[in-house]
Amino acid sequence: MHIRSELIGWGHYLPKKVVTNDDLSKIVDTNDEWISTRTGIKTRHIVEDELTSDLAYNAAKMALDRAGLSAEDLDLIIVSSVTPDNTTPSVATKIAGRLGVKVGTPAFDILAACSGFVYGLVQADNMIRLGQVKTALVIGAESLSKIVDWTDRNTCVLFGDGAGAAVLRACEGDGSKNDKGILATKIYADGTHYDYLKTNGGVSSTKTAGFVSMDGKEVFKFAIPALTQGAEVVAEMAGYKVSEIDWLIPHQANIRIISNVGEKLGLPEEKVIVAVDHHGNTSAASIPLALSENLESGKIKKGDLVILTAMGAGFTWGGAIIRL
Ligand code: UT7
Repeated sequence: MHIRSELIGWGHYLPKKVVTNDDLSKIVDTNDEWISTRTGIKTRHIVEDELTSDLAYNAAKMALDRAGLSAEDLDLIIVSSVTPDNTTPSVATKIAGRLGVKVGTPAFDILAACSGFVYGLVQADNMIRLGQVKTALVIGAESLSKIVDWTDRNTCVLFGDGAGAAVLRACEGDGSKNDKGILATKIYADGTHYDYLKTNGGVSSTKTAGFVSMDGKEVFKFAIPALTQGAEVVAEMAGYKVSEIDWLIPHQANIRIISNVGEKLGLPEEKVIVAVDHHGNTSAASIPLALSENLESGKIKKGDLVILTAMGAGFTWGGAIIRL
C-alpha cells in the first residue's frame, strides 16, 4: 500500500472590482497596447474593503464545498501569502478560527512568493504521506495591490489580488505512475537572487511592508528555465514524458514567459493554461486560481494528468505532477 494525496476539492475567489489597462492609463503613464503586448494582461481584480484572509476564507469555503467536507474534517491548514493581514499571527490561524476547525489542528503560513502554493502542496503532501494528517487545506491568497506602488508603472500594471485553494486527502495507491493524486514534487531556491524581486521594506529593516520592486529583465530570464525545470523534473520523477500530460499550469506572470515555457517543453498551446489575461500576476494565488477556475468550468477534468510549475521571489521555484 502506498499513501498518496488526492485532490478532492478546489476553490477560488476574486474581489469584485475589475481594473482594466485603460483604467491604469489614467493613473500612470501607460497604455493598453504596452501592457497587452508585453505581459498579456488585460484586467485584474483589486480588493476594496476585503483582507487577504477574506479572499482565502472564501476560496477555502468553496474548496470544502466541492470536497463535500466540513471544516471539522481538516487536519492541517497551510496558507501561502506575501500579503498577510498582520505580520503575526498567520493567515492560516485566522482561517482556522473562522472556519471552525477542530482545536489543535495545525495551521501555518508559508512565504515562498509566487512559488508559495507549490511549496504548500509539498508540505501538505509530505505530511499526508507520512501519515501525520489525513486531510489538508492548502491556500494561496494575495492582496498584492496593498504592496504595489501605484505611481510605478514598471510594477503596478503587473499584479492582481485573489485566492485559490485545494483540499487534499490521503488515498491508497500501488505506488505506480498510474496512481491518482500527487505523483511527484520538487522545490528549489537560490538566495543569490534575493535582490532581483523584493519589497523595498520589511519589519526588521524599515518597520513597513514596503513596495514591490523588480528587475524585470533578470526575473524574466530566470523564470523561463526555472519554470521549464520545475515541469521536467517532476515529470521524470513520476515516470512520464512532459508530452504525456493533459495540462500545464505555469505561474501566471507574463504571457511571453508562459508561451516560451510551453514551447521549450514541446507542448501545444492548447495544453497550457492561461489566466494571466484576466488575473494579472497574483503570486501564490496564481496557480490554485487557474486550477480551480478550469476544474470548475470543466476544461480540466478528474483523471487528467496535470503539472504545476512555479517561480518567484527569492528566487524560489518548483513543480508538482498530479493525477486529478
Ligand atoms: O512573479 C514572479 C515572476 N515575475 C515575472 O516573471 C516578471 C518578469 N518580467 C517581466 O514580465 C517583464 O520584464 C516586464 C513585463 C516586467 C517588463 O517587460 P520588458 O519587455 O522587460 O520591458 P522593460 O522593463 O525592458 O521596459 C521597456 C520599456 C522601458 O522604457 P525605455 O527605458 O525603453 O524607454 C520602460 O520604461 O517600457 C517601459 N515601461 C512601460 N511603458 C508603458 C515599463 N513599464 C511600462 C508600462 N507602460 N507599464
